[in-house]
Amino acid sequence: MIRIGVLVSGSGSNLQSIMDACAAGEIDGTVVMVISNVEGVYALERAERGGIPSRVISHADYPDREAFDAELAKALLECRVDLVCLAGFMRVLTPSFLRTFPGRVMNIHPALLPSFPGLHVRQKAIDYGVRFSGCTVHFVDEGVDTGPIIIQAVVPVYPQDTEEELKERILRLEHRIYPKAIGLFSQGRLSIDGRRVVVRGLAKDETACLINPPLGL
Ligand code: GRF
Repeated sequence: MIRIGVLVSGSGSNLQSIMDACAAGEIDGTVVMVISNVEGVYALERAERGGIPSRVISHADYPDREAFDAELAKALLECRVDLVCLAGFMRVLTPSFLRTFPGRVMNIHPALLPSFPGLHVRQKAIDYGVRFSGCTVHFVDEGVDTGPIIIQAVVPVYPQDTEEELKERILRLEHRIYPKAIGLFSQGRLSIDGRRVVVRGLAKDETACLINPPLGL
């Protein structure tokens, strides 16, 4: 049973999917603490409804990143977390924070990394004209959206898509793959080998593919 700390800044729909997967036994673990760097966000209400302790630690109250991250790390260590999950947490973590939880910080990003790191990535994918985008769960390293990839999901992108439509299409899959990644971690099935994450029990499927527009068009 792993102890999970979730860092949020917004609506917390991914937090909800993690809490639900813990309750359903799909993750062998429990969310023991939710920390938001922003007051009043809906994620905090979700935590309260789920009976999960939460705190607001506002980056604005600290002189620099080091001081803010030290406070975050202290709060998470006090709760004895095994895994830190970033779920819409809009801050870049310092190397010293990451050294406190080596190989134990995950993030979800709404694009197929390494394409489209950073912000506003759904619109960037539409503007680029890619036929597929998706979402990525990865371990966090010192870069922005650069850490070893655990799981990805793919959705089609259409030229007429609005940013909102693509966001919703991707978000539905985020809610499936983030709990899956955490579930694999909770079962001890993930190991990091340089840039690669090895998933114990993963078999190859030589026939799996997605084509957009479809060949039958
Ligand atoms: C998600 O799109 C996630 O990929 C990105 O931030 C968003 C958070 O949404 N990192 P929510 O707060 O989980 O609803």
